[in-house]
Amino acid sequence: MNRISIKLTAYFFIAVLIMEVSLIGYLHRNIVHSRIDEEFARLLATGSNHRDVLVEYYSDTTMKHIVLMEKDGDREVVITDRKGEIIHSSEENIKTQEKYIPRANDVELKTDKILASDWEGLPYIISAHPYKVDASRSGYVIMFQSTRPIEQLVQKLNMYFGLAGVTSIVALLIIYAVLSKFLTRPLIHMKEATEKLSEGDFDVSLPFIGNDELGELSGSIQKLAKELERLKAERNEFLASIAHELSTPLTYLIGYSKVAMRPEINEQDREHYLSIIAEESDRMKELVKNLLDLAKMDENTFTVSKEYFKARPFLEDMCKLVGPSFNLKQLRLELICEEELAIYADPLRLEQILLNLLDNALKYSMEQSVVVIRAFKEGEKVAISVRDFGVGIPPEETEFIFEKLYRVEKSRSRISGGSGIGLAIVKELVEAHGGSIQVESGVGNGSTFTILI
Ligand SMILES: Nc1ncnc2c1ncn2[C@@H]1O[C@H](COP(=O)(O)OP(=O)(O)OP(=O)(O)O)[C@@H](O)[C@H]1O
Ligand SMILES: [Mg+2]
Repeated sequence: MNRISIKLTAYFFIAVLIMEVSLIGYLHRNIVHSRIDEEFARLLATGSNHRDVLVEYYSDTTMKHIVLMEKDGDREVVITDRKGEIIHSSEENIKTQEKYIPRANDVELKTDKILASDWEGLPYIISAHPYKVDASRSGYVIMFQSTRPIEQLVQKLNMYFGLAGVTSIVALLIIYAVLSKFLTRPLIHMKEATEKLSEGDFDVSLPFIGNDELGELSGSIQKLAKELERLKAERNEFLASIAHELSTPLTYLIGYSKVAMRPEINEQDREHYLSIIAEESDRMKELVKNLLDLAKMDENTFTVSKEYFKARPFLEDMCKLVGPSFNLKQLRLELICEEELAIYADPLRLEQILLNLLDNALKYSMEQSVVVIRAFKEGEKVAISVRDFGVGIPPEETEFIFEKLYRVEKSRSRISGGSGIGLAIVKELVEAHGGSIQVESGVGNGSTFTILI
């Protein structure tokens, strides 16, 4: 047996044992008490009955009759006179009862009374019934009820209750043992599964155990295993991509610096190579910065502080910011936005989002085409779209472009290609705002990226 099932069994067992013992004790006491009360009532009733008969027909014959009636059985009767002397008794061996009799005479009783009620300590319970026919003829009718039948009853009760108690405890033990084993088996499976997970083995399969809490826990562990497996694969892929990403500019750096060091090249060429080195270093720095940004977003250590601001002046500023690089490529930037439209977002983060989208539009557009920024109300939120008429994205690629380091054109040209991080950052930022992003695109038809914020 494993530990948790022992614990469960022990807790249940102790709880039920306490309940059972107190219940049996309570029942036992009540049954015995009501039985004794009955005995007392009967004794008092018989005694007062005898006394009434005696008062009505006071004579020696009546007394003999009374004594005769109690001759056999567990009850005895003793009739005393004024001085406390026994006149008649149903028991020959009067000695045993005699020691109880004086008590009836010690006190002047006016009414019927129980003289001895200690059924556990004495062989009899005793009641006294005073009678008075006239001044000279008075005394007591004293009744003795043997406590043996009560003791027998108690013994029987003890035996029955004991038997019932032991049987139910054994039955309970068996039921608990089976139940707790049944309950803990899935827990043990889950424990083994999590141990496997912590050792890095994500191939866990837990049996279906229903839709209760344990079932849900089991499902969650299974989900966790899948998620961990996916994350591990993603991390490996990501690390490989980063290594590749960094090695490309490093190759340029090493190559061009070696060339620049050659003594035979002229000053002009050297300057050209050094400028390439500076450019590549910048790119590497940018790449590392983006990677750090992304890592921060994954850890949720960055904050989004939303505020209301007007969309139009904000977007006009954005256009001014990117204007020069668009002019260089002879691209026209168009802005469609209502005057009164207000956005609820973090302006710094939104700028980062739009700069990335505009950078892509610029990079992947043909020369002399148009890029349109449009902002409009969409239900409770605001939609901002960036439309270009550039190369577009093949439909089968659109679901991947938001992944880290994913690029449609696999071979990156040093001039136009990015590192594939921009859209991953955009997506994280939009989601941190509680918004969403989608893309419509076709090869040769350009692309429209729309964020809902
Ligand atoms: N407007 C667009 N038109 C065509 N293709 C696009 C457009 N925007 C993104 N893509 C494709 O999606 C890929 C991922 O974009 P993303 O912005 O993440 O990376 P990047 O632009 O290549 O590099 P980075 O933004 O990190 O400098 C791009 O490599 C490109 O293939
Ligand atoms: Mg980009």
